Amino acid sequence: MNPTATQTDADRSLAIFPAGSNGEFNLPPDLTMVIERGAGCELWDTEGKRYVDFSIGWGSALVGHARPEVTEAVVRQASKGANFAYVTEASLALAEEIVRLSPACERLRFCASGTEATMYGLRLARAFTGRSRVIKFEGAYHGANDVGVTSLFPQRLPDFPTPEPSSAGIDHLVRNHVLIAPYNDLETTRQIIVAHADEVAAVIVEPLHRCLPPVDGFLEGLREVTAAHNVLLIFDEVVTGFRLAYGGAQEYYGVVPDLVAYGKALGGGYPIGAYGGRAEIMDLVREDRLGKQTYVWTASTLGGNPISMTAAGAALAVFRQSGVYDHLHEIGAYLRDGMREVLQGRGIAGQVIGDGPLAQVIFTQEEAPVRDYRATKRSDAQASRAVMLGLFKRGIFLNPMGTKLYLSLAHDEAACNTFLDRFDETLAEVFRA
Ligand SMILES: Cc1ncc(COP(=O)(O)O)c(C=O)c1O
Repeated sequence: MNPTATQTDADRSLAIFPAGSNGEFNLPPDLTMVIERGAGCELWDTEGKRYVDFSIGWGSALVGHARPEVTEAVVRQASKGANFAYVTEASLALAEEIVRLSPACERLRFCASGTEATMYGLRLARAFTGRSRVIKFEGAYHGANDVGVTSLFPQRLPDFPTPEPSSAGIDHLVRNHVLIAPYNDLETTRQIIVAHADEVAAVIVEPLHRCLPPVDGFLEGLREVTAAHNVLLIFDEVVTGFRLAYGGAQEYYGVVPDLVAYGKALGGGYPIGAYGGRAEIMDLVREDRLGKQTYVWTASTLGGNPISMTAAGAALAVFRQSGVYDHLHEIGAYLRDGMREVLQGRGIAGQVIGDGPLAQVIFTQEEAPVRDYRATKRSDAQASRAVMLGLFKRGIFLNPMGTKLYLSLAHDEAACNTFLDRFDETLAEVFRA
């Protein structure tokens, strides 16, 4: 069907995509737009409006949009074929580099998304231990798989470790198989692990939980208690990987898990996932083991495709340049400090959380530092959404679900200052302060 003359691109998008998006954006119709292109930390919609991008492809384009080294590498590869569903020079070199930088990884495989990577990690853990339950932390996201959307945004807040699905259609799968623990509460987590040790295959954790840093000793304690009970520890490094440090959370926090999942920034903006661990665990996927009780099925048609592998190789070369992580940490701190000053200047209660090139504002009256999902749940979600939409309206592209702001190598103080000016204007509008 041809668009009618009066239909905007936003109308067409709303007519065909549920809620006018490809998922989890939740913009009201009047702010719905269609992107034409991006460069660095900016993007433009099809009506010519310019945005400063604080979503940056949900963090996947950490190198910045259309980073020349990545684009050139992809263009070179594109003329040599897009997919063979088999090992290529590019995937081999990339795998070798990941094994070098990731202490947990002796062996790995590629897939096409973070959702797949964590799903395979959980399946491997169940097969390796012969146990069926897994523990995740309340409010953590591990992708759109069944575990990832269990107790992601729980509303009824059942007692730990009872799960609450955040999506219909998974109840029967997760009710008996997922246990929920409070992030940053080692003692309660330890009790859950001890009480269910015989049936728990793994604890999966975002080392930086959404935007919440681990308190001192939390990740170390998790490592210790899981090891003591032969429960595998899985780091979901889909966000932290290559972002907090070249060696991700393992390097940044100095804790080595049994299995690790990557995605997002690794791909330089192109589709990617990777999962790896010790050889004795990873080798369960060997196809010559098909028919054995512990054989683990993994297969990803586009996993390891040479375009994504080449993009990732080019992105990693960018991340290895000197000063990259200083910049990412400095620019993140600049934004977070600036946001705190703006809140203070307007006398608005709130906390700004995050680390590295990540930030999130929580409109809370509480003095105690926000450390877990329940503290964020007590905050003013309505204000948060109004502020996110106010920023969007003012040309700041972000995910109005009110979660993280993602910065990139392309963000500088000028981009952050633009954000901060508009944050100030938006607070004045929303709080009439
Ligand atoms: C921590 C974490 N794990 C996994 C995923 C899923 O990755 P993907 O969207 O590539 O499937 C995400 C996505 O936001 C994430 O934030």
